[in-house]
Amino acid sequence: MKLRESLNDLGWALKNQFTASPPTPPPPFDRSRSALKKLKGQALARRDELSERYDLSSWPLACWPEEIPEALWLLDLLDRQVVPRAPEGPCLDVGSKNWSYLPALRAAVPLEWTGVELDAHRRYMNLVTRRAVAERRARTVGESRYVTGSLQGIRGEFGLITWLLPFVTPAPHDSWGLPRRFYDPPGMLRHAASLLRPGGLMLVVNMGEEEAVAQRKLFEDHGLAAAPLGEIRSAFAPYRKPRFGWLLEKPPGA
Ligand SMILES: C[S@@+](CC[C@H](N)C(=O)[O-])C[C@H]1O[C@@H](n2cnc3c(N)ncnc32)[C@H](O)[C@@H]1O
Repeated sequence: MKLRESLNDLGWALKNQFTASPPTPPPPFDRSRSALKKLKGQALARRDELSERYDLSSWPLACWPEEIPEALWLLDLLDRQVVPRAPEGPCLDVGSKNWSYLPALRAAVPLEWTGVELDAHRRYMNLVTRRAVAERRARTVGESRYVTGSLQGIRGEFGLITWLLPFVTPAPHDSWGLPRRFYDPPGMLRHAASLLRPGGLMLVVNMGEEEAVAQRKLFEDHGLAAAPLGEIRSAFAPYRKPRFGWLLEKPPGA
């Protein structure tokens, strides 16, 4: 484990030393558009329902074909759990990676979005960074801002916070290549909850039952009464491991 931690520290220092990125190529519009169209059965019916109510026109400009099923999965979840609660802005997405699902966030909740990502300078094979990819998407869908850094550096008040797949156990954090000094699930949850404005909502999604159990304990330890959404079932099934959700509503007078 010590070796892994040392390698993560070294990798971190290197990637944060040289952060410039070549320009990112645009997604292949025709292939992305056909990924959005070529659905079958329940997925097709649900896509039709969603596209009647939400504007998906920017998706082929912002998403790669393989990202479309996950974006539809998230739009479906937001439509069922978040949109009916009429969230207000501004909105924050925690741990945004390359923000592949930003088009779903903006379609469901067309307010101002900030995405924060600690590991934004990670590179793809073509040497383009996550940050460059995410910033391109933010420009494409509009009213979105990608911030490089830790959640703990974010200030302000948000009406909606989305947090998809937080690291709540150490192993995924380590295999992501992050230095151990950044592993602080209680501190991160405390800070995220402090950013919610009265009446605000926080949607958390975990991968697998073990992480959902760890997430429940974190909420309980902080006295946060998050409602469990249970296993998230959907007509879109892009994941092998089940997802579990939570919805935290900050009381209006808090
Ligand atoms: C499992 S990934 C999930 C990425 C993305 N939300 C998704 O669903 O595809 C967790 C992300 O959280 C980021 N992260 C970890 N600690 C963070 C922190 N303190 N502030 C901001 N992002 C952080 C990681 O770098 C990683 O990109």
